[in-house]
Amino acid sequence: SDVDRLIRELPKVELHVHLEGAMRPAILLELAEKHDVATVPRSLDGVREWYEFRDFPHFIEVYLTSMQTLRDEADFALLTADVAARLAAQRVSYAELHVSLYAHLMRGIPAQVVFDGIEHARREAEREHGIQLRWIPDFPGDYGVETGEQTLEAVLKEGPPSVVGFGVGSVEVSRAPFADLFARARAAGLRSLPHAGENGGPERITEALDLLRAERIGHGIDCVREPALVDRLRATGVPLDVCPTSNVCTGAVERIEDHPLPRMLRDGLTVSVNSDDPPMFGTDLENEYRVAYGLGMEAAELATLARNGVTASYLDEPGKRSLI
Ligand code: ADE
Ligand code: ZN
Repeated sequence: SDVDRLIRELPKVELHVHLEGAMRPAILLELAEKHDVATVPRSLDGVREWYEFRDFPHFIEVYLTSMQTLRDEADFALLTADVAARLAAQRVSYAELHVSLYAHLMRGIPAQVVFDGIEHARREAEREHGIQLRWIPDFPGDYGVETGEQTLEAVLKEGPPSVVGFGVGSVEVSRAPFADLFARARAAGLRSLPHAGENGGPERITEALDLLRAERIGHGIDCVREPALVDRLRATGVPLDVCPTSNVCTGAVERIEDHPLPRMLRDGLTVSVNSDDPPMFGTDLENEYRVAYGLGMEAAELATLARNGVTASYLDEPGKRSLI
């Protein structure tokens, strides 16, 4: 259809996708075989069943377990190469990927192994597909501030220049304890890119803005519960990375018809559309645009979503101009 063609041809960026959550079942199975990982399913049907999430904590549990297949530099490179190829095939020319760095550190995998693997594949993908990848290392907020400190320390010591920001994710807890941590990250030139208001309520977004000086909000859909917060987000123009299918799969939104994305755009918020953990949610970026269309958004609004993604990205100015 015309809309499919529009979606296909829109110059797109992806601002909210987790590297590890973008692992296709085929890669999961290959790596599980390679390392004989007993904690993950070993068949395609098994993986599909495993990806039916009871609730948000269950999703996070599966997400963390799937990472046990990532052990050496080649594994990280293989995953990154596959994710980059999938993005490039959707006409995505630039992507910022969250990397669950702490989840690897806590398993005894040195930051250097992670960065060497993903950097090798990043350079290769840029040569092969012309796609630019940037990194947002993050830590699970519910594991406490010390895990965030270890993560930031590893980023500052070992992180390559392609790291653009610092994030916090997992089960949503108060962002207040992370104020100093994010201040240090910002002082080091990293953007403050927390998840907030995915399912933790509007207060988490206010904390992210006031205490973490968030420059973009991961999800942020709970802002619609507080009109004054919507006004503030509109007035300040702080962008929100919205991931519709993810929100239904994790139970953050009950039914896709209830998703606030159209309302957020029409309320003047700088929202983009993103895939979060695409194979885990049976989606990809193009499908998220189709979902937005299914929510009643018009072609011009889909183009606005794509343009907002470019605006909200950390692509350089000439790069942005070439996409808008
Ligand atoms: N890690 C991977 N996906 C996530 C999500 N949707 N929210 C928080 N942490 C995540
Ligand atoms: Zn996310």
